[in-house]
Amino acid sequence: MSYKTELKKRSDEIEEILLAYAPKGQAPARLIKAMNYSLFAGGKRIRPVLLMETVRLFDGPVPLARPLAAAIEMIHTYSLIHDDLPAMDDDVLRRGKATNHVVFGEAMAILAGDGLLNCAMETMAAHIPYDDEVYLHGYLRAMSEIITAAGHNGMIGGQVLDILSEGGGPDKEALDYIHKHKTGALLTAPLRAGAMLSGAGKAQLQDISTYAAAVGHSFQLVDDLLDIEGEAGKVGKSIGKDAADGKLTYPFVYGIDATRQKIAQLYDSAVKSLRPFGEKGKFLKETADFLAKRDH
Ligand code: IPE
Ligand code: IPE
Ligand code: MG
Ligand code: MG
Ligand code: MG
Repeated sequence: MSYKTELKKRSDEIEEILLAYAPKGQAPARLIKAMNYSLFAGGKRIRPVLLMETVRLFDGPVPLARPLAAAIEMIHTYSLIHDDLPAMDDDVLRRGKATNHVVFGEAMAILAGDGLLNCAMETMAAHIPYDDEVYLHGYLRAMSEIITAAGHNGMIGGQVLDILSEGGGPDKEALDYIHKHKTGALLTAPLRAGAMLSGAGKAQLQDISTYAAAVGHSFQLVDDLLDIEGEAGKVGKSIGKDAADGKLTYPFVYGIDATRQKIAQLYDSAVKSLRPFGEKGKFLKETADFLAKRDH
């Protein structure tokens, strides 16, 4: 099976998982509609795909991974809704569609984001396997990893420094913090969480964390490049916003060539960390390649 077909099969699995845990209930219909509008607007689903793959890599419990996979995509989607708000990046296009606040208004977009974040917590908490003597500990560790990655010492902290750095100089340390947190945290968490759930050993967790750090870092460098060189039709978001907003990006600090070199270097590091897994690491290796070369 080609990588493209393999990825499609896996992202289809994520759509099915998300449908199973999607927001529903007696809440005002407009809120549910706004939450699901962004959750099902498309998107690569790369975070939950990585979580499911890691669980398979370590022969872990696939059914228990499902609520965790849904949760990470809900958290990611909430972060996008809020990232696009006028008070933040003020974007009108996301996943090829009008942004949440453009369709539903700012108040509803804020609440839809809050709703998705909470729905992630509810989904994970509702499926804690209290009676599972083998996997309870791993599930709780994985859940804690995801929650922490989303918080002030993770994604939110990165978003804050991203906003505070707008219009400033080429601060390398701040750039590194921004990338590791606003983006790295939510890409690292599913890989580590998958390993934790499956009861991976210390050395295995270390290898997967090295892979995760490289892929997570590279992910934002590619995102920064796409904002300069991408095609809006393919990327599904507006292009050229980072420079217009004075964002602290890798190309702004180091230039485009150095950004490309860094992406290649991070790919090598990701591949190296997969060596201990041999043939079983094939999909993760190909994913690192796909993410380094992606056009969306
Ligand atoms: C975009 O994430 C936001 C960043 C962290 C750079 P993705 O590129 O994963 O967006 P979707 O989920 O595919 O829309
Ligand atoms: C945002 O980074 C990362 C998030 C936590 C959402 P960007 O602001 O560069 O993401 P895009 O380009 O809008 O997707
Ligand atoms: Mg942003
Ligand atoms: Mg943005
Ligand atoms: Mg961007």
